[in-house]
Amino acid sequence: MNPDSKTFAKNAPSPRHEVENLEPYKAPLEGRRNFLRLDFNENTIGPSPRVLDALQRISANQISIYPEYSGLREALITNLTQQGLEASLVVEQIGIFNGVDAAIHAIFHAYGDRGDQLLTTTPTFGYYAPCAFMQGMQILSIPYEGENFQFPFDLILKTLSAKRTQLLFICNPNNPTGTRLAPEKIYDLAASSPDTLVVVDELYEAFTGDSVLPGIDFSAFPNILVLRSLAKTAGLAGLRIGFAIGSAKVVDLITRVTGPYDVNSFAVTAAFAALEDQPYIDSYVADVLEARDWIKEKLLTSGVNHQLDGGNYFLIWPNYSSSYIAHALREKGILVREMSSQSLIAGSLRVSIGTIEQMKEFWKVYSSVEDFKKSM
Ligand SMILES: Cc1ncc(COP(=O)(O)O)c(C=O)c1O
Repeated sequence: MNPDSKTFAKNAPSPRHEVENLEPYKAPLEGRRNFLRLDFNENTIGPSPRVLDALQRISANQISIYPEYSGLREALITNLTQQGLEASLVVEQIGIFNGVDAAIHAIFHAYGDRGDQLLTTTPTFGYYAPCAFMQGMQILSIPYEGENFQFPFDLILKTLSAKRTQLLFICNPNNPTGTRLAPEKIYDLAASSPDTLVVVDELYEAFTGDSVLPGIDFSAFPNILVLRSLAKTAGLAGLRIGFAIGSAKVVDLITRVTGPYDVNSFAVTAAFAALEDQPYIDSYVADVLEARDWIKEKLLTSGVNHQLDGGNYFLIWPNYSSSYIAHALREKGILVREMSSQSLIAGSLRVSIGTIEQMKEFWKVYSSVEDFKKSM
């Protein structure tokens, strides 16, 4: 076909209306390798040596064939049981995804129809809204309450009873406010609205222990779905692997809308090794919790306006413009995340918590940047 021919289309075909108007999820993800990365709540020291070892032993054969997933769901169940899961789960209740992001996308794809309602909180993790938007759903985001960003339980409960809600997303602890919600409260919400799929994003649960999982009976709560990832605590963010845990029916439905091999062999190999080395993850979590106490003390004694609760992150409101401070920290080798576009917390910076040494480094640089600005 001659590209100059008159029959050649001038414009590319139109996408779906919702996609054309979609504000893409944007995150400053490039060029971060040589920094102290306190901007994405990742593991700041890397995965278990057993993960690296397993990856190095991947054979050519394993690369040239499609990935195999057998045994991975069992390995997750064993791992969860070692961590206190009392419920007896079967493999059909575990979905494996290319990161929890892919699980979130699949949930919306499977459950969110045009005009349906997504109920969630604000500010919260930024990927729920674009997923709802691309399905043409209505989004109702209820603000966290008060100075300490409490979970708006009563309003959520009221909304669930007033209007049919297809999906309720609860991030527990919430990213970025760290707000914690007791698992019993989540059961109450799910019981109050059996037709709503209540998705509990437990990405940072390791730092609080507030999980709905331990005693859950999914036959009593088929409308609860739990998300867990190996991205953060286990340090596999670059490999992309996450899990959805729920009733077999829900897991089956959300898995139908993904490709058959969306999770690659490297991620599977790394996941086996990470799940077998829970002591490594536990020790990293313990280091972060110690560092969290250390930085909390500094923030309190220095009078820095902050919000620190669950999770491996906290918010600070610097005395000077957050973009100036973020830029100055970057110049000195430290990345933090600006929260300028988030409701209620505009002007804050989200800082991930790493080891105590990393927090000392952050504090030294942050204090010098604020002091320098003061002297100007
Ligand atoms: C609350 C929350 N959910 C989900 C994700 C995505 O996790 P994953 O890296 O497994 O896709 C993130 C990542 O930052 C997150 O903060």
